[in-house]
Order: sequence, then C-alpha cells, then structure tokens
Amino acid sequence: MFKHVDPYAGDPILSLNDAFQKDPRPGKINLSIGIYFEDDGRIPVLESVRRAETQIVAEGGPKPYQPIEGAANCRSAVQQLLFGAGHEAVASGRVATIQSVGSSGSLRVGADFIHRYFPASGVWVSDPTWDNHRAMFEGAGLTVHTYPYYDDATGGLRFDAMQETLRAIPKRSVVLLHACCHNPTGVDPTREQWNALIPLLRERELLPYLDLAYQGYGESIEADAWVPRAFAEAGLSFFIANSFSKSMSLYGERCGALSVVCPDAAQAALVLGQLKATVRRNYSSPPIFGGQIVARVLTDPALRALWEGEVKAMRERIVAMRKKLHAMLSVKLPGRNVDYFLTQHGMFSYTGLSQVQVERLREEFAVYILRSGRLCVAGLNSGNVEATAVAMAAVMAG
Ligand code: LMR
Repeated sequence: MFKHVDPYAGDPILSLNDAFQKDPRPGKINLSIGIYFEDDGRIPVLESVRRAETQIVAEGGPKPYQPIEGAANCRSAVQQLLFGAGHEAVASGRVATIQSVGSSGSLRVGADFIHRYFPASGVWVSDPTWDNHRAMFEGAGLTVHTYPYYDDATGGLRFDAMQETLRAIPKRSVVLLHACCHNPTGVDPTREQWNALIPLLRERELLPYLDLAYQGYGESIEADAWVPRAFAEAGLSFFIANSFSKSMSLYGERCGALSVVCPDAAQAALVLGQLKATVRRNYSSPPIFGGQIVARVLTDPALRALWEGEVKAMRERIVAMRKKLHAMLSVKLPGRNVDYFLTQHGMFSYTGLSQVQVERLREEFAVYILRSGRLCVAGLNSGNVEATAVAMAAVMAG
C-alpha cells in the first residue's frame, strides 16, 4: 500500500540536533539548533514562566476547546507586545490576530491564506533564510524565489541588490523579512535601510510577511518590535508571525501568533474569519496552556518586569559569548577577520565555514554547527567556548 511513499530526507536542523543527541562523545558541543542554553548547558525554565505556570495550575481551571482563534487575553497581549500600548492599528481594530501552534504554525496558516486569496503571488525570501521557510510556503502550494541578502565577501548586507530585486518583482508579491536577528546570518538591515524599504514596499504594492521569532535577543523587547510598528505607522498591510519559543523559552509549548495588519477594521474582520477557517480545517483550535502562560507573563506587571530582566540577561550572555569567541579566535588566527561575531545580532552567527570545514568540526571535534556555517552562539558557555575556538581555529587554518 505504501511502497510508493518517498523516504523523508530529514530536516537540516532537527536531524542534526538528533544526531548530536546520539553522539556518544563526552565533550560534544551543540551549536546547531536555535535554542538558548544557560551557561551550565541547560535549557532554562524562566522564573517568570515558572511562576505563571504555578499560578495557572493552582487556579485549576477547566480545559474546554479554545476558540478557533485562540484565547482573547493571549491575542490582545500579543498585539500590545508587537505594537505597543494604545497603537492606532490595534485601537482601530485593523489587526487580525490568532494564537498559533508555534510561529511555524502561524507561518503556515498565513501561507495557506495567501495561496487562497493571492494565488498569483510568488513568495520572495532572503538568500539565505531559515531552512524551513521555503518548505513551508512551497508546502502551501506557493512558488518561492529569493532576493539577494547576505554578502559573503563583507559578511554584511547586499542592500543595493536587495532593493533592486524588490523593485523589479511583480506587484502583490509576498516578501518575507526577518524583523530582527536574521536567521541564519545575524545580519539585519539598519533603521535607515528599513526606512528606505518601506516606501519601496508601498510603491511596488508588495505584501510583506514579517517573521519575528527572536524578539528581545537583538537590542531589547521594545526595540526589536520597531519594524512592525514602523510598517503599521507607514500604512502598509502586512503579515507578522511571532514566537515565544525563544523569548520565553517555551519551545515545546508551541506558542506563537499570526497577526495581519489591514487597511481597516472591516477588512481585518474578513481576514480573521478566513484565518479561522484555515485553522478549523487543520487543527481546529490551539492548545490552552502555552497561551495562558504568555498572557499571564505579559499582563501581570510583576511577572512582566521579571521576564524583561530575564530576556535581558539571556541577550547579554550571548553578547558576552560573542566577545569571548571573537577574542579567542583573533588570538589563534592572527590576521583573520572574525569581527562578524561582534557585528551580527541575536542567536546566530554566519561563520562562512565551508561544508568540508563544518564536517571536520563535527567529525574530528564533536562540534555541531549547521551545514550552511550557521553557528548558534546561544549554545556557547564558559565551559565549551575555548574548545569551540580551538576546533574552529584548526579547521579554519587547515
Ligand atoms: C532554528 O532555526 O534552529 C530554530 O528556529 C529551530 C527550528 O525549528 O528550526
């Protein structure tokens, strides 16, 4: 019956993480998957989250089906987080938001919506982008193209080429943009560059799709939401998928949201209706617990303050690790420019290592980074950074 089914080639990120778990070598180092680890190597349970969980469990509420679009308190807390308290777009009801199963779930619901209501639109993603973006949009039946983004030669952004491509693509094309902490490169446009993109997107009638998976890991929780706020203020219509996997260390709770900023409240109501229809035919409604943790942490003033401090500490630990690795490599590889560790933002650095070098790292040194050369700086700690620098220096010198 099933002989014709294609074998699954595996996922470039999750399969590598599985291979790491199975690796018996004691000194192995996991810098592959985008997860924040503490300095002791463990995935943190944030104190703000632990307290919220304790309160929710103690309250012992029932577990009915949620509304298709998710819990009202979670959706409204997400809107406040993304756009700030009292933002005109939220106050006027022109933002349609659903609670989703991780931000992957929201990306896919949005992709299904686009396939139905913008069937002629192609999707344009940065070169490179998160490995799963292409698969998700293609899985929804859309055609995926790339726009120039990362500059191998400088380790920066190919901004002119990016603009040139976006100026030339068909109207109503969907343009996927990372609102902060670009995955996989850590290279973000400056505010000046975003300010140049806004009129371009508007004049060319493009449909931006923001992915905001790392809010708080760039500059701050507020500053990392600058792009959606600027887009909304400029009157753009756009999608934004956001996640609490990293910012609340809630990976397995699968908690995210999809918001669509529309020209007016009437269109937002239409969009929300069709997002609900998409959800109902896929998984009916999202789970309760993760969304209630998010709502509690975001709306309880004491928990919110605690969470903001915890996010700051995670961000600062990553910056400290960037500096350490940079300093160690600069000593071991004199003359080699590794300043990208200092200039790139968020969890990831794009090292420029070749596939052969990446394989050597894994096989000879048990250091796991992605085949693309992406290194998760959030997996470094005071116990493994020296070994990582030794391994990298060996393969980079060879
Ligand atoms: C990553 O990029 O490593 C994370 O977002 C995890 C994932 O699902 O790929």
